[in-house]
Amino acid sequence: MAILKIARMGHPVLLQRAAAVPDPTAPDIRRLIADMVETMDDAAGAGLAAPQVHVPLRLFIFRVPAERSTGDADDTPTATEVLINPSVELLGTEMRLRWEGCLSIPGLRAAVPRAWRIRYTGVDAEGTPVAREATGFHAGVVQHEYDHLDGILYPMRMQDFSLFGFTEELARAAQMRAEAVAAAEQRA
Ligand code: NI
Repeated sequence: MAILKIARMGHPVLLQRAAAVPDPTAPDIRRLIADMVETMDDAAGAGLAAPQVHVPLRLFIFRVPAERSTGDADDTPTATEVLINPSVELLGTEMRLRWEGCLSIPGLRAAVPRAWRIRYTGVDAEGTPVAREATGFHAGVVQHEYDHLDGILYPMRMQDFSLFGFTEELARAAQMRAEAVAAAEQRA
């Protein structure tokens, strides 16, 4: 296994439409998945798409960390999942803003509108068909990773650029807001 180099925003591989995986259980795909899992874990990410490691194929991995799950029945924590040749269908009209980062856009975060509920299909690393519904973080991370297969990065989905910033600054601002609220409560 190996930790792979992650393409950063500006690299053309992130803007192209990726090709279908001809044989999801081929040895080279198995090796790619193992390397992607190691790369995502090393970077402490929750999702990684093949184009982000310079492989323009329709394949991504993701997980729902316990601390990011919304607790909804279709958004429970998961181990690392593999989705090959996926399709994603948005269910309903409900959109919510979710805070996203991307390993290809290091140091930044933004609030991005995403469908709350989706249905997705594909095959896993064993070539077994996958079909499920997801909400919340699970739905959001799948939409984010699926976009990578079509050459779409999260800033291309944004509507309010005031909700875009460096992770450190956003955390500092949130901390200052929390302190202001605590001080106001103390005065009351
Ligand atoms: Ni990303």
